[in-house]
Amino acid sequence: MNTIKSFSFKTDQLTIEWQDGRQSQLAAIWLRDHCQMPECRDPHSGQRLLNITDIPADTRIQSVEQIDDKLVVVFAPENHVSEFSTNWLLDNCYCLNKQSDDRSEQGKKLWQTNSFANGLPRFDYASFCQSGITRATALQAVKDYGFVLLDGVPCEDGYILQVIGKFGYVRETNYGPLFNVRTEVNANNLAFTNLGLGCHLDNPYRDPVPGIQLLHCLESSTTGGESILQDGFMAANVLRDENPEHFKTLSRQWINYRFQDSCTDLHSRVAMFEVNDLNQVIKVRYNNRSIDTLRLERSQIKPFYAAYRHYAEIIEREELQISFKLGAGELMMFDNTRVLHARKSYSDGGIRHLQGAYSDLDGLYSTLSMLQAENHNDL
Ligand SMILES: [Fe+2]
Repeated sequence: MNTIKSFSFKTDQLTIEWQDGRQSQLAAIWLRDHCQMPECRDPHSGQRLLNITDIPADTRIQSVEQIDDKLVVVFAPENHVSEFSTNWLLDNCYCLNKQSDDRSEQGKKLWQTNSFANGLPRFDYASFCQSGITRATALQAVKDYGFVLLDGVPCEDGYILQVIGKFGYVRETNYGPLFNVRTEVNANNLAFTNLGLGCHLDNPYRDPVPGIQLLHCLESSTTGGESILQDGFMAANVLRDENPEHFKTLSRQWINYRFQDSCTDLHSRVAMFEVNDLNQVIKVRYNNRSIDTLRLERSQIKPFYAAYRHYAEIIEREELQISFKLGAGELMMFDNTRVLHARKSYSDGGIRHLQGAYSDLDGLYSTLSMLQAENHNDL
């Protein structure tokens, strides 16, 4: 086990040399803000009791002493005493533990058509319900690949809401807790016709966008109507490789999305690619049907269209897509901030009836985290 070899301090910084040769350089203000004593952290919730303004701006280290496996730090001018255990320092030091963003493209397994030679991430629904390990593995697939397929889901009206209850919460919208995807007369959305739909993400006009979409097939006897999925993070990577300026345009240029019908008027203003502080993609919003009138600076119109066209061409490349036909009792669930979906047109004869619903990623990630903690010996 790693232990402290030596330490030294200046008023603004504590330096620790570890037995394994690594070094921690911890700023006085960071240490004071992360004080673990019960007057600074609620012992039950672990939440911070201090505001940053409660800590003097001229906080400095007055003394440091090692007692057993703890460093006892006294801060001036408060004369505040904090104890930091060796384990806490090892787990939390910002020199030893780089921040990782597992929701960004960096934390994902990006894929294309030939990534699934051993089959798509597909699980039996009965096992998904009964086994915490199967459920954790399936939810991890959503985190890694952005989608999962479930087989043997009962073909009952509204059953999709019970599936959501296994990992999270239903995100109700103006379409209701769930929506039916089948041919409708005078449909308010092209999704409810038998027309083909190009690759898209749902509802970019919402703020926030639903993080997960589920589609449950109740009946499938038409010709055509195959589903297509495409990894929007992979396509963004390809775009960046082929033309960094185009990537920059789609990550910096904000545009408006809108949805209107007789009782709804939704709009948002966002970029197609949302990036984090490291310029890594964390969300894609792409839906040609719901981009509102583009009102960009005149000089931005042509560059935007060039970048938009380039991305649209990439997502339609066959080598980046997977295609399959959902049969009755199959359900697909995908990350609606990453994995684009499309549908081929289908015949007038026969019935294609899917039920769809939305949920959010944070609930799924929380369930995954709890399942992994419960089953950590078996995963
Ligand atoms: Fe859709």
